[in-house]
Amino acid sequence: MLERSPLLKVEHLEVTYKHRLQRKIIIQDVSFELYPGEIVAMTGKSGAGKSIISHALVGLLDKGLSVTKGQILFEGKSIMHLNEKQFENLRRENIAIMIQHSLNGLDPIRLVKKQMLETIRQRKRGSNKELVPLLLYLLTQVGFKEPEQILEAYPYELSGGMRQRVLLAMMLSLQPKILIADEPTTALDVVNREKVLRLFKQLQRNLGLTVLLISHDENSVAKYADRVFHLNEGGVPI
Ligand SMILES: Nc1ncnc2c1ncn2[C@@H]1O[C@H](COP(=O)(O)OP(=O)(O)OP(=O)(O)O)[C@@H](O)[C@H]1O
Ligand SMILES: [Mg+2]
Repeated sequence: MLERSPLLKVEHLEVTYKHRLQRKIIIQDVSFELYPGEIVAMTGKSGAGKSIISHALVGLLDKGLSVTKGQILFEGKSIMHLNEKQFENLRRENIAIMIQHSLNGLDPIRLVKKQMLETIRQRKRGSNKELVPLLLYLLTQVGFKEPEQILEAYPYELSGGMRQRVLLAMMLSLQPKILIADEPTTALDVVNREKVLRLFKQLQRNLGLTVLLISHDENSVAKYADRVFHLNEGGVPI
């Protein structure tokens, strides 16, 4: 087999919550790797620490939470001590994240086109005329048959599943090396859940996308992931 190096390597990660004299370890000794082109699912019960880990990877930990041990390497380089600006660049250029509950991440009353243009411009210069064809292409990649109509729609006019796919297209417009999707399907009904999961598989095949797929629904992600990594209460002994 070809020798490959991981895109992302997490070693012995520990995240601690500190507030005044209070100190609590939330994530303990978590290690995993993500290789190019893989879909790796992170599963675990509610409260196990899946979202906290994803936030730690891209510099989005809430106040009071910090990485206290371990190492996070992206393309072999440590990303542990990036400043805010550097983390912003990392999220824009390399590791895009779909935050849990971010169905609300789309503004319901601003045209999809406006919001998508704003996002793609973080990565690419160009007039509307140059960028719109790219957006249409991305919308077809996430399964829309009539992408023009979607561009001219307001998110409030779309179903939850459609909004989730628009959000995914928006993320793809950043051309990330890794996409972290935190519970992308929990707000959806069973049919749309399967549809979105199948979509990740297709994007992996078509675009070589690498995905960290976070879900507490072990059974359904197991069908689509190359590997499943189960988080046991943040690795913290109970
Ligand atoms: N901002 C915060 N400050 C302190 N503790 C937090 C904070 N956010 C989460 N926690 C705690 O960290 C633990 C892990 O939470 P996290 O949100 O990562 O779980 P999760 O695995 O994503 O759960 P779910 O499946 O419900 O999304 C929980 O015990 C939670 O109470
Ligand atoms: Mg979560």
